[in-house]
Amino acid sequence: MPQPLSAATIAIVKATVPALADHGPAITRAMYARLFQDTHIAALFNQSHHHTPGGEGGGAQAKALADAILGYARNIENLGALGSAVERIAQKHVGLRILPEHYPFVATALLAAIQEVLGDAATPPVLNAWGEAYWFLARVLMAREQVIYDAVAGAEGGWAGWRDFIVAEKIVESAVITSLVLAPKDGGPVLRHKAGQYLTFLLPVHGANQAPVRRNYSISTAANGRSYRITVKREVGGAASPWLHDRVAVGDVLQVSPPAGDFFLAERPQRPVILLSGGVGLTPMVAMLETIADRHPGLETHYIHGAANSATHALDGHVRALAATRPHIKVATFYADPLAGDAVGVSHDAGPVTRGLVTLDWLRTNTPLAGADIYLCGPKPFLRTFVTGLAQAGVAASQIHYEFFGPAEELMAA
Ligand SMILES: Cc1cc2nc3c(=O)[nH]c(=O)nc-3n(C[C@H](O)[C@H](O)[C@H](O)COP(=O)(O)OP(=O)(O)OC[C@H]3O[C@@H](n4cnc5c(N)ncnc54)[C@H](O)[C@@H]3O)c2cc1C
Ligand code: HEM
Ligand code: HEM
Repeated sequence: MPQPLSAATIAIVKATVPALADHGPAITRAMYARLFQDTHIAALFNQSHHHTPGGEGGGAQAKALADAILGYARNIENLGALGSAVERIAQKHVGLRILPEHYPFVATALLAAIQEVLGDAATPPVLNAWGEAYWFLARVLMAREQVIYDAVAGAEGGWAGWRDFIVAEKIVESAVITSLVLAPKDGGPVLRHKAGQYLTFLLPVHGANQAPVRRNYSISTAANGRSYRITVKREVGGAASPWLHDRVAVGDVLQVSPPAGDFFLAERPQRPVILLSGGVGLTPMVAMLETIADRHPGLETHYIHGAANSATHALDGHVRALAATRPHIKVATFYADPLAGDAVGVSHDAGPVTRGLVTLDWLRTNTPLAGADIYLCGPKPFLRTFVTGLAQAGVAASQIHYEFFGPAEELMAA
C-alpha cells in the first residue's frame, strides 16, 4: 500500500462529496472529453461504451464513473472495501495494456474537469486533495498491475505485450456465433489460462491508417498449453465482431495480449458447481465445463444454459458429449423462442420460457443452490435477474461469481 492519505486530505475529499454528487456526471463527461482529445488515449477505450462522449447524456460509463468516484470519496476511510474492485480493474487494465505512463493523462483530465465544473469551489486545497486521492488509488493499481505483468511474462508460455497468433481454424457454431482457434505464430507454448479468463485483441478493423480497436473475448476452451479458442457472437452494427466473422480467415494473424480476468473456476473446487449462462455468455462456461470434465470429473456440476433456439445455440453437441460420459455433469438447456422443429427432450430441455431463462424455483428444485459455487455469464437482464435473485434467495455473496461482457459498473448502473 502506498503512503496513507493524510487526515486533512480525507477531510477535504469528504467535504466535497456533496458538491461532486450534484455535478458527478458533468465532471466525468468533462473528464472523458479532455481525455479523448488525445487520440492515443482515446484509442485505449471501447468507444461504444461511451455512446456520446462529452456530449448529451454522457453515456453509461460516464455515469458509472461518477458514481464510482463518489463511492470512493464516501468510503475514503475504508479503502479495504476496494480490494476486489482493485483486482478486477487491474486485470482489465493489464489486458488492455494500460501502463504507468498513462496515469498522468487521467490525473490531468480529472482535475481539470473538477476545476471546470466546480468553478470557484475548486480551490487549490480541494484540487490538491483530489490529486492526492487520485494518485493514492493510481499507485495501488499500478503496483498490482506491475505484479500481474511480471507474473504473466515470466510464466511458462507467458508473454508481455502483443503477440502474433495465427487463425488455425474458423468454425461456424450457429447462425450468429463463430469460433476461432488461435495458435502462436512463433510456435511456442501458450500460458495455461484459468478457465473463465479472457484474451484482449488489438484489431485493425478500420484499416491500417486508423487506430485499432481493443476487445476482450473469453477463452472458450480449457487450457492446453498450445492454443486458445474464442467464440464470438456477431453484434449487428458492431466494429469488431462482424469483422471477425466476415473478414478474418484461416491463416490471418491477430495481435493478442495474455489471458486476464478475475472470473475463473476455483483451482480446487470445494463444493458442487452450478454454471449458468445466457446466449454467448456460454464461452467462459464451456471452458469451465471442459476443465471440470478433464480434471474434476467426480465434481457434482450443473450446467444450465438459455438460448433463443437451435439456430442460435452454439456448442450444444460439444457440451452434451462432455456430459454424456460423466454422470456427475448434468446439462439443461432452455429455449426462449423455439423454432417449429425444436422439441423438448430432443433439441432442448424446456421452453418457451419467459424472461430469457429458467426460474429461481427451477434452480432450487433441480440444483444444490444453497451449497454450491455459482458462476454466471450472460446479457444484462439475465445477470441482473439472477445476481439479485440469488442474493434474495439467501445465497451468500461468496458463492456467486459473475462476468459481464462490458464494464461491471455499467451493468449495475443501467
Ligand atoms: C471480459 C469480456 C469477455 C467477453 N467475451 C466475449 C465472448 O466470449 N464472446 C463474445 O461474442 N463477446 C465477448 N465479449 C464482448 C466483446 O468484447 C465485444 O464487446 C463484442 O464483440 C461487441 O464488440 P463489437 O466491436 O462488435 O461491437 P461494438 O462496436 O463495441 O458495438 C457494440 C454494440 O453497440 C452498438 N453501438 C456501437 N457504437 C454505438 C453508438 N455510438 N451509439 C449506439 N450504439 C452503438 C453497436 O451497434 C453494437 O450493437 C466480452 C467482453 C468482455 C468485457
Ligand atoms: C479518484 C479517482 C477515481 C476513483 C477513486 C475511482 C474509483 C472507481 C471505483 C471504485 C469504481 C467501481 C469499481 C467497481 O465496482 O467495479 C470505478 C469505476 C470506473 N472507473 Fe473509476 N475511479 C477514479 C478515477 C477513474 C478514472 C480517472 C478513470 C478513467 C480512466 C476511471 C475509470 C473508471 C471506469 C471506466 C469505471 C467503470 C465504469 C463503467 O463500468 O462503465 N476511474 N471507479
Ligand atoms: C486511479 C485510476 C483509475 C481507476 C480507478 C480506473 C478504474 C477503472 C475501472 C473501474 C474500470 C472498469 C473495470 C470493469 O469493470 O471492466 C476501468 C476500465 C478501464 N480503464 Fe481504468 N482506471 C484508472 C486509470 C486508468 C488509466 C490511466 C487508463 C488509461 C488511460 C485507464 C483505461 C481504462 C480502460 C481503457 C478501461 C476499459 C474501459 C472500457 O471497457 O471501455 N484507466 N478502469
